[in-house]
Amino acid sequence: MPYINGLGKYVPEKIIDNAYLEKLVETSDEWITSRTGIKRRRMAAPDEITSDLAYKASLAALHDSGRNVTDITHVFVSSATPDALCPITACVLIRKLGIKGVMAFDCNAACSGFVNALQLACYTAKADPNALILVVAAEIMTRKVDWSDRSTCVLFGDGAGAVLVSQNLPPDPKGFTAEIKDILVDTDGEFSELIAIHAGGSREHYTVGTPVNREYFIRMEGREVFKQAVRSMTSASQTILERNGLKIEDIALAIPHQANDRIIQAVGDRLNIPEEKLFSNVSEYGNTSSASVSLALADARNAGRMPAGSTVLLTTFGGGFIWTAALLKII
Ligand SMILES: CC(C)(COP(=O)(O)OP(=O)(O)OC[C@H]1O[C@@H](n2cnc3c(N)ncnc32)[C@H](O)[C@@H]1OP(=O)(O)O)[C@@H](O)C(=O)NCCC(=O)NCCS
Repeated sequence: MPYINGLGKYVPEKIIDNAYLEKLVETSDEWITSRTGIKRRRMAAPDEITSDLAYKASLAALHDSGRNVTDITHVFVSSATPDALCPITACVLIRKLGIKGVMAFDCNAACSGFVNALQLACYTAKADPNALILVVAAEIMTRKVDWSDRSTCVLFGDGAGAVLVSQNLPPDPKGFTAEIKDILVDTDGEFSELIAIHAGGSREHYTVGTPVNREYFIRMEGREVFKQAVRSMTSASQTILERNGLKIEDIALAIPHQANDRIIQAVGDRLNIPEEKLFSNVSEYGNTSSASVSLALADARNAGRMPAGSTVLLTTFGGGFIWTAALLKII
């Protein structure tokens, strides 16, 4: 299977803590912390757009690997909150990176977008052994929440993570290096209405002068999403472990989608993962949608939680519904 070589992240400087949200909507630090574990989240500056976050995370991944930007052959940008419907964020990103002639496109699989893009990168790497694929997950969720809806505005934040994927490693690989052992992606469109942003595409008719209403922002059936997230990430993790002949004891670290500490804990409990093997940084960033596991991967690496030789389990869940699991062997 292909390799990740190079990992980078970027989060905007501005921190929005729960006390700030107490001034915006009827909520409390106590409610947010006890229901979600989130203490603060990052917010992009007014002049920052998704491709800016993607650009900074990409530079960090390139720096980590020691590779040159001109070595990149493919750019896959995962985002549910792209710069615009057109031009696609990947093309804006390659302009910022100063490269041309690469295959560049956006992929949106909501919160599971990073692992879906990673799967696509694996297929590409296998088909083209000379490919060096930049996979970036970048989100500005704070521009897609209704700041008067307390049930969603407290949950989300902004950030980006990036990795470089190739079929072969350079002779002396630098930076974060891991073999992608396996990826599982599953979907069920029956639940597509439970997390939605209805307007902005073809579904809602609008024209010049149509007022922006709540349909342009994220809506979620929190309770049902919670249950499905726990079920799906648990079963995907069990399946990928089984089909690779692994037990939970073989996993050094599990990194679930960082949406909510209670979801992370519930997945950990069902899989019997001890506390010290369960990674969470949701208190710092909130739910950054598809950027979430890439940011968590970068933070886990910086915290020394993924030593060489260890096996790491990723699992994600999000709108669609789409859920995933992946196994990485750290080199
Ligand atoms: C959103 C979530 C935290 C809500 O927690 P919950 O325990 O399910 O709470 P409920 O939605 O049942 O709401 C309970 C009460 O809290 C209120 N409430 C909702 N948001 C609140 C907030 N920010 N502050 C204070 N009260 C709030 C509700 O209005 C409701 O009040 P009511 O009983 O008077 O109607 C939880 O459902 C959740 O985390 N869901 C998963 C969301 C998620 O992570 N999605 C992304 C997956 S990709």
